[in-house]
Amino acid sequence: MIDQRQLAQLLRTQQQGRSLSRPFYTDAALFQADLETVWYREWIFAAPAVEMPKPGAYVTMQLGTYPILIVRGGDGQIRAFHNSCRHRGSRICSKPSGQAAKLVCPYHQWTYETDGRLLWARDMGPDFDTAAHGLKPVHCAVAAGMVFVCVADEPPDFAKVQAAADGYAAPHRLDDLKVAHRTTIIENGNWKLVMENNRECYHCAGSHPALCRTFSDDPYLVGSDDSLGSPAGAAHVARCEAAGLPSRFLIDDDEQWRLVRIPFVGDGVSYTMDGKAAAPLIPGMPFANAGSLLFFYYPNTWNHFLSDSVLHFRILPLSATTSEVTSYWLVHKDAVEGRDYDLNRLTEVWIATNDEDRRVVEENQLGINSPAYEPGPYSRAHESGVSQFIDWYLRKMTRSVSGEGAKIAAE
Ligand code: FES
Ligand SMILES: [Fe+2]
Repeated sequence: MIDQRQLAQLLRTQQQGRSLSRPFYTDAALFQADLETVWYREWIFAAPAVEMPKPGAYVTMQLGTYPILIVRGGDGQIRAFHNSCRHRGSRICSKPSGQAAKLVCPYHQWTYETDGRLLWARDMGPDFDTAAHGLKPVHCAVAAGMVFVCVADEPPDFAKVQAAADGYAAPHRLDDLKVAHRTTIIENGNWKLVMENNRECYHCAGSHPALCRTFSDDPYLVGSDDSLGSPAGAAHVARCEAAGLPSRFLIDDDEQWRLVRIPFVGDGVSYTMDGKAAAPLIPGMPFANAGSLLFFYYPNTWNHFLSDSVLHFRILPLSATTSEVTSYWLVHKDAVEGRDYDLNRLTEVWIATNDEDRRVVEENQLGINSPAYEPGPYSRAHESGVSQFIDWYLRKMTRSVSGEGAKIAAE
């Protein structure tokens, strides 16, 4: 546990408009503080709801030290639980995803219903109270077809983001999609470096030849600032809104999340090498060149909702210098691979982009590991998104310091 005075002092020395100091990216105690202050308190994107299409479908994830199980019950509802058996604590499900009629612990076969109730425990005697040993629930909510979980006792209010994200994403018919592909990569970088890198396109021209065919690096069109600041952005918003697609830049009061629909470069309609569609138009979308609805949510997800597909990205922190990045590609559920879409065509641009981003994040981490590193200035033109993310993070951390540290933070 980090000393609260030290943390408060460190937070006070951070300079507005500059990258964080070295311990924020390298230090194990600060990583633990990140987990406790951000990851164990906020809503965290876990999985697309359609990854669990039927009752009994489940996914697992590791959130810091918490193994979590998310499962669709017989009533169709998605619930989250601590993936820890109420007998002696074994993990119940170990695969990343699967399908189970009942949740059976592999150790001594205690058997749970998909809604978490304990159904059966062998030879526990007549006094054993089955009802008192159901799986412990984790808060679970869906926004824009995305399942979020929160391990805090009292989760933050989620109603505003749900209403906004549901409204913007509704035309993409999230319930009628399927997961066409999912990849997970490990990046040797602190989770904040992964998010910082996502929050600017200053690096795009130098790093992303495939992505730049369709994705503009105009700072007004990368979701950091109001797209109305660019003529192309304003024209796109007007055209899409006239067709019933919510598109205007919308940002949370605390700047934790934002939504905006941006145009592609030229006549591109999807993140493909030629810019043409990768999959059939999602029924309900008024036209193919609707650009991309961007949805950013701190601390762990960014998303692109297109006319033919939806892409979700999820960061999970593994250590001070390691993060896991999972990407999902969704298409309409009736689309057949090989007939209606080619998986390579659908995924190649973002698989390449993810790998390019992994490399820049890892180089960033290696350079920051040097004792010679010192925080450097953000470009006002291109890195306002990074600055906003870091400001949000510092506000979170500063509000959390307790005891003696709180006095220092308040000074
Ligand atoms: S630990 Fe699960 S049944 Fe024993
Ligand atoms: Fe990138």
